[in-house]
Amino acid sequence: MATDAGTPGTAIPRFPDGFLWGVSTSAHQIEGAADEREASVWDAFTAEPGRVKDGSTAAVACDHYHRYREDVALLAGLGVDAYRFSVSWPRVNSPGGLDFYDRLVDELCAAGVRPVPTLFHWDLPARLDWLERDTAARFAEYVSVVAGRLGDRVTRWITLNEPAEHTLLGHALGVHAPGRQLLFDALPVAHHQLLAHGLAVRALRAAGAGDIGIANSHGPIWPASPEQADVEAADFYDVLLNRLFAEPLLLGEYPSGLGELMPGGAAGVESDLEIIAEPVDWYGINYYAPTRVGAPQGTEIRFGGLTLPAELPFSVREIEGRPVTDFGWPVVPEGLTELLTGFRDRYGERLPPVFITENGCSYEGLEDQDRIAYLDGHIRALHRALAAGVDVRGYFVWSLLDNFEWAEGYARRFGLVHVDYRTLVRTPKASYAWFRDVLRAQR
Ligand code: FCB
Repeated sequence: MATDAGTPGTAIPRFPDGFLWGVSTSAHQIEGAADEREASVWDAFTAEPGRVKDGSTAAVACDHYHRYREDVALLAGLGVDAYRFSVSWPRVNSPGGLDFYDRLVDELCAAGVRPVPTLFHWDLPARLDWLERDTAARFAEYVSVVAGRLGDRVTRWITLNEPAEHTLLGHALGVHAPGRQLLFDALPVAHHQLLAHGLAVRALRAAGAGDIGIANSHGPIWPASPEQADVEAADFYDVLLNRLFAEPLLLGEYPSGLGELMPGGAAGVESDLEIIAEPVDWYGINYYAPTRVGAPQGTEIRFGGLTLPAELPFSVREIEGRPVTDFGWPVVPEGLTELLTGFRDRYGERLPPVFITENGCSYEGLEDQDRIAYLDGHIRALHRALAAGVDVRGYFVWSLLDNFEWAEGYARRFGLVHVDYRTLVRTPKASYAWFRDVLRAQR
C-alpha cells in the first residue's frame, strides 16, 4: 500500500532557501534547578499526590539549567538554524534568573544557532492566576523586562505556547496545572491569555522587536460520521480548539456566540479584541494529530491518556487503521497538509506566514525508527502544503531532549536525544543523526 508517509531514506524534497529548521523545548520540562527560582503553578500541582502519573517532579528534569552548554553543543552538532526554548517567568522573577537566559542566548549565538524564545509555556508564577484580568498586564511588564535584556541578540519572539491546552487541560478539565475543573467557566482564561498575547506584542514592538508570533496548537477535526449530530459536534470542537484561538488574532473577532461568554460580554471585549488582533509577523502552529469527534455518548470519554467528563457536548472517537505513538496518538502526516491548506482557505490574506513551532512523537528506544518515520512523513506533508501554495517558513521538531512531559511525568520520550534521568547523560538517538542528515541535504 502506498502510504502518505513516503519512504524514509529517499531524499526529502528541497525546501525554499532561507527555510528555518529548528527544535523546541520548554523551561519547566528541561531546566530543573527549581530551588533557584520562585514556584510556578506546576510546582504546586506536581506536589499534589496523584497529579503526575509516575509521581515525579520537574525539580531536576534534564538539569538543563546547569548543562545548557552541553545542550547547545548538541544543537550545533545537529546543525539546526534555530532553537525554540521558553523563558520561565518564575525564574526571571528570581535573583539571577535573567542572567541564565543571557548566558544561554550568548552560547547559542556563539554556536551560530538563532535563539527563538517563547515567553510563556504554562509555568505561571504560583501567585498569579489567569482567571484574573490583571495577569495579562503583569505578563506585558515581564515581557518588557525580558526584551530589554535579550532584545539586542534575540530577533524572533513567541508570546505564548498553546493557550488552548493551558485553558482546556489546566482550567476546564483539571488534568494540568493549576488543576481546575471549570468546564466552560474556564473561558475567561482563554480571553486573558489572548489579551496577554496582544499586550505582549505591543510591549515587544515598544522594545524594538520586529519578528513576533505565537505558538497555537491546531489540528483537523474529523466528524465521526456524516450524520448531522456528529458534524455539529465536530464543528463545535473545531471552534474550541482552532477557531477560538486563531480568529481573535487573525480576524479580530471571536467565533459567533463566544464573545458573549467572555468576561464583560460581547460589548466589553470589543476593545480587548483590538489589542488581541495587534498584527503578528508570523503564525506558529503546533501540530500532532487530527481529532475525530462525534455527538456526545453520555459516558466518560477516554482520549490520549485523558478521561473527559460525560457532560461535554461532544465525544472524542478513535482514529482507526493508523499506527499510534507510545502516547496513543495516531500518526497522520497528511493531517498537517490538510490543516495548513484548510487554514489558508479559511483565512486567506489574513493568515501571515506560518511556522510549524512543534511537531513530534513519543517513542521508547535509541534506535527510534518509528520517530524517523513520523518526522519523515510530516516533513513531506509539510512540503506538500508548500507546493499547494501555503506560505510556510520553518519547522521545529518537538523535542531536542526527552523531558518532563507534564502529567505523564518522564514516561513519554519525545527527544531526538535520550536523557538518562538517573545520570543525566545525553545520548543522541538514531533520529538525531537522521535529522542532521536531512538538514545537511537541504543546505
Ligand atoms: C505540546 C506542548 C509541549 C509538549 C508536547 C508533547 O502540547 O506544547 O510542551 O508537551 O505537546
